[in-house]
Amino acid sequence: MTGTIESGTRTGSKLGYSAGFGNEHHSEAVPGALPVGRNSPQRAPLGLYAEQHSATAFTEPRAHNRRSWVYRIRPSAAHPPFLPHADGMLRSAPVADGVADPNRLRWSAPPLPEEPTDFVDGLYTVGANGDVLQRAGIGVHWYLATKPMDDRYFVDADGELLLVPELGGLLLHTEYGRLRADPGEVAVIGRGVRFRVELPDGRARGYVCENYGRPFELPELGPIGANGLANARDFLYPVAAFEDREETVQVVQKFGGRLWAADYDHSPLDVVAWHGNHAAYKYDTARFNVMGTVSFDHPDPSIYTVLTSPSDTPGQANADFVIFAPRWLVGEDTFRPPWYHRNVMSEFMGLVKGVYDAKAEGFEPGGASLHNMWSAHGPDAETFARASAQELVPQKIDDTLAFMFETRWPLVTTEQARSAAHRQPYYDSVWRDVRRHFAR
Ligand SMILES: [Fe+2]
Repeated sequence: MTGTIESGTRTGSKLGYSAGFGNEHHSEAVPGALPVGRNSPQRAPLGLYAEQHSATAFTEPRAHNRRSWVYRIRPSAAHPPFLPHADGMLRSAPVADGVADPNRLRWSAPPLPEEPTDFVDGLYTVGANGDVLQRAGIGVHWYLATKPMDDRYFVDADGELLLVPELGGLLLHTEYGRLRADPGEVAVIGRGVRFRVELPDGRARGYVCENYGRPFELPELGPIGANGLANARDFLYPVAAFEDREETVQVVQKFGGRLWAADYDHSPLDVVAWHGNHAAYKYDTARFNVMGTVSFDHPDPSIYTVLTSPSDTPGQANADFVIFAPRWLVGEDTFRPPWYHRNVMSEFMGLVKGVYDAKAEGFEPGGASLHNMWSAHGPDAETFARASAQELVPQKIDDTLAFMFETRWPLVTTEQARSAAHRQPYYDSVWRDVRRHFAR
């Protein structure tokens, strides 16, 4: 049994949540709506329909199995055919016009659209890898929204959606209830979960990791022990909340890399009660228990992993979600910023707020960088000069939140991202002034 807690006093919202990553949550919006002791009684309570929503194969190991039972006004099967819908700026792997680019790429924050644009129409793909039909790889997008989704719903059959707000909050009305995610928090919409997005601040911009692969899970902690990094209790799931709405609405579905749409005569968010471990959830990155050195050397950034989507190769993530959160730097005789490196994994980085400690300028909130497989990167010249000379007293990195989607395959960039006006063609120059100091 899990209790309902309130969260969001930081943001002024007062939604109820159920805490605990991957728990067997249960919730009913109307007393008595949730069957007791069985999933599919002959007649479900209150005239509801019972339906199982599986995010993993029935036979996957118990530790990875994700499914929920929902009790809804109509079964999900009650809908007309889906017809092809314009894809807008949304792309999937394999990217038809894509290039696997060995160069370091960086973008300023994309401008918000001038025309009123909702969350779905404002999805803008930077790149993708893997194959959406093979359930492997990821898509990386920005969302740029200036209009709420009132009569429109979205569902992604291709992947779960990790949303990283940068500008403005998101009020997510999902089949499983409501979630509010503000900058500093992240939200994950489970694969196949229908939802619509309202904009409490009137506009919203942020990043999306569309995870085609295995659902995100908490990383193993190894010698760290039973606690630390992102703790399971800090992941908040919605409590049941339903729309009893009998009017024409549009449901847009992403399936097989393309968009499809159907007009329903009712809201698909008609789940009155549910139980299970597949839904949607949010997490406040301020709860992340950062680990780091207390002696010397900068640890590998995997120490900052919040969530991981494992691949079938142990240790090689389909996607890791990594954050660079406020923390103390105390390493002695240590070059404290991230070191220069080349990495077989590919790194897409974004910035929610503040300044990232490896780049003095040019990497701005809402912007992004992509360091694909083996592309050499590290501190810019100014950061190197400062970090090599600074007195190594304890130093707090504060008021910042950078993050990384790290993935095992190169991210193949879209034509629209490569030719975007907000791409920074001069990015290589941040290393131009890194001078030689070698002296025999
Ligand atoms: Fe890196």
